[in-house]
Amino acid sequence: MAQMLSLPKHPGPIGIFDSGYGGLTIYNEIKRVLPQYDYLYIGDNARAPYGTRSFDVVYEFTRQAVSFLFESGCHLVILACNTASAKALRNIQQLDLPGLDPSRRVLGIIRPTVECIGSVTKSRHVGVLATEGTIKSMSYPLEIKKLFPDISVAGKACPMWASLVEANEHLNPGADYFIKRDVEALLMRDPLIDTIILGCTHYPLLLDRVNAFVPDGVKVITQGEAVANSLKDYLERHPEMKVKCTDKGTTMFYTTESADKFREQASRFLNCAVKASKITLK
Ligand code: DGL
Repeated sequence: MAQMLSLPKHPGPIGIFDSGYGGLTIYNEIKRVLPQYDYLYIGDNARAPYGTRSFDVVYEFTRQAVSFLFESGCHLVILACNTASAKALRNIQQLDLPGLDPSRRVLGIIRPTVECIGSVTKSRHVGVLATEGTIKSMSYPLEIKKLFPDISVAGKACPMWASLVEANEHLNPGADYFIKRDVEALLMRDPLIDTIILGCTHYPLLLDRVNAFVPDGVKVITQGEAVANSLKDYLERHPEMKVKCTDKGTTMFYTTESADKFREQASRFLNCAVKASKITLK
């Protein structure tokens, strides 16, 4: 993607990208807060999960998706995936955007999530449940320390959780084994935790199950609302970007897996019928 592409200049939809279905939890909130815009969603379901993949591979896959979204007319892309935000965002912003089109923007979802945490935790002990890639990147502790140096952060990777959601097995009793195990391991690392960030966009689908294993008084935070409000604020502060986002209220869903499968799963997650098409990323 580093070489110049001939990108469409006219306004286009806002791009939203995730490794799979998880980004729908972010899309859902964005659509609720900003219903007027057009959206183009890509789920790279054929290559999900990303959580255990290397830095280089996550960067390459994310770059391909961003490139596809730019070529499809998006000027603004949200990486609705913590793993991609942790492992690819900085490189894309610093290495790819300047050569491609410096006026386009790619935004991640870790920063907006972290910004709201300072007013939530009373004990100043925060836990993060996320993919192995996000936890190993240390993105959450680093971002939290920048904004709230007094907060201590413990993280626990949940290697099975995104796969359970992708396979639609997350509400089956077998899933509880992994959820309980990982929640308890996190709380053992720091028993003073009073706030847990679900730092993977697949995890809101497990929220009820996570809450079942968390003691009273511990808040479990999902990201959608913070990301949606932050995008709203961004567009208000950047009128030059706002005019490049079309506003007919439509959404197009793309998947790298079967379109039928995506339609069925996504309709269930979003509680409404969706149209989807299959694409190939390269
Ligand atoms: N939903 C993604 C995230 O927020 C990635 C999950 C995965 O593909 O492992 O991290």
